[in-house]
Amino acid sequence: MRVILLGAPGAGKGTQAQFICEKFAIPQISTGDMLRAAVKAGSELGLKVKEIMETGGLVSDEIIIGLVKERIQQDDCVNGFLFDGFPRTIPQAEAMLEAGVDIDHVVEIDVADEEIVKRLSGRRVHPGSGRVYHVIYNPPKVEGKDDDSGEDLVQRDDDQEETVRKRLAIYHDQTAPLVSFYKKLEAEKGANAPKYSHIQGVGSLQEITSQVLEALQG
Ligand code: AP5
Ligand code: ZN
Repeated sequence: MRVILLGAPGAGKGTQAQFICEKFAIPQISTGDMLRAAVKAGSELGLKVKEIMETGGLVSDEIIIGLVKERIQQDDCVNGFLFDGFPRTIPQAEAMLEAGVDIDHVVEIDVADEEIVKRLSGRRVHPGSGRVYHVIYNPPKVEGKDDDSGEDLVQRDDDQEETVRKRLAIYHDQTAPLVSFYKKLEAEKGANAPKYSHIQGVGSLQEITSQVLEALQG
């Protein structure tokens, strides 16, 4: 199964991806996690994207498309994958169509901007695995520590309110048009296009997971 989780920063893509990927035994392909790993490793790619990411801008389509095309060639993608944070622009979505990468489901998780600002200020992440927590809504078992490894949790550099607002503005401008892009594709191509589902992303983590599962199995 090939799935795209679409949604604003902080909508809960990474959180839901963990459940879905485990259930369907498919890898989570988070372009954000891949880029953060490159920054941490200090690779050539990391040096190129560090400042853009810290200030909440988008990395160029060329870099992202190259990264994703290479990633989906890997062995663990034979039974499918879940894209988290990709595609994020019309050219990125078009590149997948042109490359013949057939997607089964596009699931949009819809959350209002003000709720997102609250969520991201309380987010904590485990850099090694990409696991996501929230100090109130999804706390770790031990404060400040990852449940599995016991390692420290950190705050992302781009989770300051001003940067979050910039990321939201970019989302509305560059990524939200993908909603009509995929709806139009489904209207034109029917069963030959990804099935589009819209989910209200407010509620408990479990409630949202069951809605996503319903969309994927429907
Ligand atoms: P990326 O890592 O993709 O960040 P993002 O899209 O901004 O999304 P987030 O990871 O912030 O949010 P999420 O939806 O995963 O929410 P989460 O589950 O963590 O990208 C980072 C940067 O990399 C970009 O800014 C860009 O520079 C670059 N980049 C990446 N991909 C790119 C691309 N394709 N093209 C160009 N540039 C790219 O949840 C958020 C918080 O809410 C957590 O604390 C969580 O515990 C909590 N939460 C989740 N669900 C709920 C709920 N139901 N109720 C209450 N709290 C909840
Ligand atoms: Zn994420």
